[in-house]
Amino acid sequence: MEVKTKKVNQTETVLQAENINIYYGDFQAVRGVSLNIPKQRVTAFIGPSGCGKSTILRSFNRLNDLVNGFRLEGKIYYQGQNLYDAKIDPVEVRRKIGMVFQKPNPFPKSIYDNIAYGARVNGIAKSKEEMDALVERSLRQAVLWDEVKDKLKQSGFSLSGGQQQRLCIARTVAINPDVVLMDEPCASLDPISTLSIEELINELKENYTIVIVTHNMQQASRVADMTAFFNAKAAEGGKRFGYLVEYDKTETIFQCPQEEDTQRYVSGRFG
Ligand SMILES: Nc1ncnc2c1ncn2[C@@H]1O[C@H](COP(=O)(O)OP(=O)(O)OP(=O)(O)O)[C@@H](O)[C@H]1O
Ligand SMILES: [Mg+2]
Repeated sequence: MEVKTKKVNQTETVLQAENINIYYGDFQAVRGVSLNIPKQRVTAFIGPSGCGKSTILRSFNRLNDLVNGFRLEGKIYYQGQNLYDAKIDPVEVRRKIGMVFQKPNPFPKSIYDNIAYGARVNGIAKSKEEMDALVERSLRQAVLWDEVKDKLKQSGFSLSGGQQQRLCIARTVAINPDVVLMDEPCASLDPISTLSIEELINELKENYTIVIVTHNMQQASRVADMTAFFNAKAAEGGKRFGYLVEYDKTETIFQCPQEEDTQRYVSGRFG
């Protein structure tokens, strides 16, 4: 597969996938994917269901290690280091490369402790004052502070879905990651919460590198600087594998893509 990164600005690459194949047991889910994720930009992954978007995203913070039968060929570099090198500690990787899931998953703890827990485990805030400041800063970064500042002791579950998702984002940024991976973070949210998460993503990219999987074309065109379009096709034997069709600046993918499949997908004439 040809690597299409020629139009990427002169920005630093944070994550670099080099000709990766991903298998679950005998099944090849992803074939021949190469792409560079630029620093402090938002990169969107789009494409039909089953084309391997979540699989690739999870391989960026070694979350697939926990899946039976998972196997990766090729290389993924994070800040130039081979992410799958035996010397790399996957727990440390997941601290640097955080993940926000489709369904908000706050811990069964207070709003305060949802943030404080990870910070405590990672030794980020030492004193009560430092922790209070970190909780406030993280909740402000996730644009949630004003809504929860008077009820920090209440359960995270007492919040609305959109607030819970912002709490999960606050929890992720509290441990000071480099990269935030988001797998359809707005899939279970109403349009207003979706917009507030999108505004938040725009603010977060000042400090973080973001990769977001979305089925919402408007969302990709609103938030992403770069967009990767994936598709699936049948291999010998009929099983379908995912591959990268085209990767470019978002406006190019949406307005003048090079591949006909991309054009058909982004204009809703796919399938
Ligand atoms: N844990 C797993 N074990 C076995 N196969 C898996 C596993 N996770 C995903 N797959 C398979 O790998 C392929 C890619 O799945 P993946 O979840 O990455 O797709 P996706 O692009 O994220 O789809 P969607 O848009 O529906 O979320 C699919 O065929 C799926 O069935
Ligand atoms: Mg998925």
